[in-house]
Amino acid sequence: MIKILHLTFILLSISSFVGRIYLAEKRPELLEQKWIKIGPHIINTFLLITGFTLVFQGSWLSAEYGWIVAKLIALVAYVGLGIVAIKSQGELRWKAFAGALACFVYIAIVAVSKHAFIFF
Ligand code: HEM
Repeated sequence: MIKILHLTFILLSISSFVGRIYLAEKRPELLEQKWIKIGPHIINTFLLITGFTLVFQGSWLSAEYGWIVAKLIALVAYVGLGIVAIKSQGELRWKAFAGALACFVYIAIVAVSKHAFIFF
């Protein structure tokens, strides 16, 4: 049940991020709307809460937990690059956007494989 919620908030998080990049390009004035500003914060808070609930529910900290640390570090990079992508313009925006998407995909692969070093 919590895992389904976690997956739901993951989908909401990535869609709201891509949606805000779209608005930043096409209708930047809409980004000033209160619900568009607050909504993603609420979604990402629930993403974190469900993630930590899964950590404790599965007693993951008493097992090999390197992948959880990797997920958290990549999550900080995802959020940071996401902020740069929304606030900047031109080439920098697209580089940050690509970086944020790469972090997101890495987080998802780590979640499924439970290994931080996915390339070796
Ligand atoms: C962008 C952020 C995140 C993404 C894309 C993501 C992705 C995923 C995915 C795809 C799964 C399902 C894995 C499976 O069924 O094998 C999962 C499960 C899980 N996630 Fe996340 N997650 C994110 C954030 C977090 C955070 C912040 C935490 C907590 C520190 C966390 C902890 C967990 C745990 C403990 C599981 C359950 C593993 C299991 O029981 O198999 N996740 N996550």
